[in-house]
Amino acid sequence: MSIAEPILLTPGPLTTSARTRQAMMVDWGSWDDRFNQLTASLCEQLLAILNGAATHHCVPLQGSGTFAVEAAIGTLVPRDGKVLVLINGAYGKRLAKICEVLGRAFSTFETAEDEPTTAADVDRLLRADSDITHVALIHCETSTGILNPLAEIAQVVEQHGKRLIIDAMSSFGALPVDAQQVPFDALIAASGKCLEGVPGMGFVFARKESLAAAAGNSHSLAMDLYDQHAYMIKTGQWRFTPPTHVVAALHEALLQYNEEGGLPARHARYAANCQALMEEMGKLGLRSFLPAAIQAPIIATFHAPQDPRYQFKDFYERVKAKGYILYPGKLTQVETFRVGCIGHVSPDEMRQAVAAVGDVLREMEVLDI
Ligand SMILES: Cc1ncc(COP(=O)(O)O)c(C=O)c1O
Repeated sequence: MSIAEPILLTPGPLTTSARTRQAMMVDWGSWDDRFNQLTASLCEQLLAILNGAATHHCVPLQGSGTFAVEAAIGTLVPRDGKVLVLINGAYGKRLAKICEVLGRAFSTFETAEDEPTTAADVDRLLRADSDITHVALIHCETSTGILNPLAEIAQVVEQHGKRLIIDAMSSFGALPVDAQQVPFDALIAASGKCLEGVPGMGFVFARKESLAAAAGNSHSLAMDLYDQHAYMIKTGQWRFTPPTHVVAALHEALLQYNEEGGLPARHARYAANCQALMEEMGKLGLRSFLPAAIQAPIIATFHAPQDPRYQFKDFYERVKAKGYILYPGKLTQVETFRVGCIGHVSPDEMRQAVAAVGDVLREMEVLDI
């Protein structure tokens, strides 16, 4: 890998395969039957990953992941609904911000960035406020890599007769969710994450009855998933200009996903990446922010070295010069940096990346080993 083409150890955009990038070398007409078939096949394959075809529609949407999250809340939460937002990081805070901007009533429940929300918390909160209609949570909170107990929370939300909206942006395709076991109204993800496509589109798995009842909820024309879905069913086409190259790349990425062995294989590779990362970083004396029990194999947060010679920007540039792109920390209280475990990378490449980190810290005289 040349320095001109570094390995991205970031949680999306991430490193894609040459085959996926090659799939973007064709121009597609948005009216063309072959392109419409590509979209239909994409939606079918995406639904299969979570066993959702019987109960959910897959509604793709142009834009980054946040567009799809905002569209899901705007479409599926009625204007007189109320959302309980579970927060333990920046993406949870973004959910609350979306509710605020859209004018949906909401309340928040925030735990520390290294503390998962529990089903017992949700049970107590739902008992205390009968106005709540929807609960929204982040599956893997990418700002640290913490995993929230989705299955348990989903059961409690169901027992209370409430609806669940899951931001599974950084986990979908790698961490198992079965739509027949985990009740939800919406699960949201995007092209450029664990499926290893390129960024540019999101998709929402929306419960069929909930989507059918959502006409007129949306505050926005472009973000209306009800309309987007209705148009696609009627015409086979995207409602507005589709991200054609992104669709083609994701289709090709899904072929490789299935060749690799689907979700179990993707999960196993990312878990091996994460383990190699933790072991090698540990040898350098770099400590993980999260305990292993709540660490998702998606992205890991490390405490920055306690040395005045360490500056993230300098560290980042030096590691980049060796061919690896790291990610800054997103915590306000402690200085950290992050390393993604997802993308078209192997455990060996993770070890090489950490070797580069070690070399850089020695060059910076932060490490004396
Ligand atoms: C948990 C989570 N939610 C939402 C997003 C969406 O972000 P963006 O709009 O930048 O794609 C991300 C992106 O990494 C994420 O990790």
